[in-house]
Amino acid sequence: SEIYRAGISGTRPRVPVDAGGLEDAARRRLSAEAFAYLAGGAGAERTVRANARAFERWQVWPRPLRDVSARDLSVEFLGRRRPTPLILAPLGVMELAHDDADLAVARAAASLGVPYTLSNQASFPMETVADAAPHGSRLFQLYWSADDDLNASLLRRAEASGCEAIVVTLDTHLLGWRTRDLDLAYLPFTRGLGIAQYTSDPVFQQLVRARMRRGPDASAPPSPPVRLTPKTVAAGVKIARKGAAITGADGLRDNLRSPLPRAAVETFLDVFSTPALTWDDLAKAREWTSLPILLKGIVHPDDASRAVDSGVDGVWVSNHGGRQIDQSVPTLDTLPGVVERVAGRVPVVFDSGVRQGADAFIALALGATVVALGRPYAYGLGIAGEEGVREVVRNVLAELDITLGLSGHTAVTEVGRDALRPA
Ligand code: FNR
Repeated sequence: SEIYRAGISGTRPRVPVDAGGLEDAARRRLSAEAFAYLAGGAGAERTVRANARAFERWQVWPRPLRDVSARDLSVEFLGRRRPTPLILAPLGVMELAHDDADLAVARAAASLGVPYTLSNQASFPMETVADAAPHGSRLFQLYWSADDDLNASLLRRAEASGCEAIVVTLDTHLLGWRTRDLDLAYLPFTRGLGIAQYTSDPVFQQLVRARMRRGPDASAPPSPPVRLTPKTVAAGVKIARKGAAITGADGLRDNLRSPLPRAAVETFLDVFSTPALTWDDLAKAREWTSLPILLKGIVHPDDASRAVDSGVDGVWVSNHGGRQIDQSVPTLDTLPGVVERVAGRVPVVFDSGVRQGADAFIALALGATVVALGRPYAYGLGIAGEEGVREVVRNVLAELDITLGLSGHTAVTEVGRDALRPA
């Protein structure tokens, strides 16, 4: 009703309310590379489409005459009462959408009481994000590095900077076959974007220095020649400063010679992930942190069982928004099976394909404890910064609240399978 009332006074929303319009507006606003990275998926992007279509296999029963004048969206999650069942999924390289990137997202999330999962590929160090929204609730997402000392260091920092839980993402041990990015020959990390969590880390800095002492990598391709324009010079100065911050004078020299903080980027590419990871390795995380640990990227119900049996504190059902396997199992289809196996022992987070409040309602009805929003908030960020993120999240919550009431419920925790009918 706020949006309608604002309309009377001539104020229009900053971001399109409809999900398709939101994506279109972001496409118009952002560079081709940035939009491709945000919107793109693996292969022919069949999983991206299937994730969204899965919601159409369920219909919500309208149930009038049940006095729904007071409605409660709050849920219990990770030992605390949260005002809503929505959290923000970790999205890396948000500097592609907006210069304020994770800082803007953290502020928007904090202002709504929505927990924010900060990405390992964030554009700002986690301590800076914590300072930007000191009262916000944050989880830290880890990509399990090939270097255990780095893993331990990142988790120590997460704990010290006030994160409430660790989310270990398991579906990215190999980077997906992302056709849009391949066509544009665009990978943000090779341009030094989205590696702030690493370059601010003392263990990573040691790895970079060690690599520099070994000298340039003979197998690495030479840096492309740079055409000197005011824009490239300004970018070069920014990057050189970054290099100096990482490795002092050596880094400055290295980066002046190259358009990229090369040693840092190459070190990142070496250690970013490990395809050798197994269930047994996960036990190490318990030694590195006393925070609750959630596993993100669980799709098969057998993996959900194994996760809970291995003692983790939460299961996060996700196929990375269709960015990893083309024609992967849509997450909504597998959610009921996962919920059955988890059997209430730990919370179940759901993502991949949530575009509006009615989607969130369906996932909650199928047993998700909380629902994570992904791409839509990145689009809001790209269109209108912090305010854009806030509007997108509020729109999803408003539609969820309305769907709750129209389906005859007064609390999200009451919503179950009987609220739905298979389409
Ligand atoms: C992601 N995702 C992701 N996941 C993660 O664990 N760490 C990360 O750094 C990122 N980065 C990232 C960047 C971008 C641009 C996208 C679109 C996605 C996956 C993310 O957390 C979530 O699983 C998906 O976004 C869910 O799919 P939808 O709903 O956004 O389509």
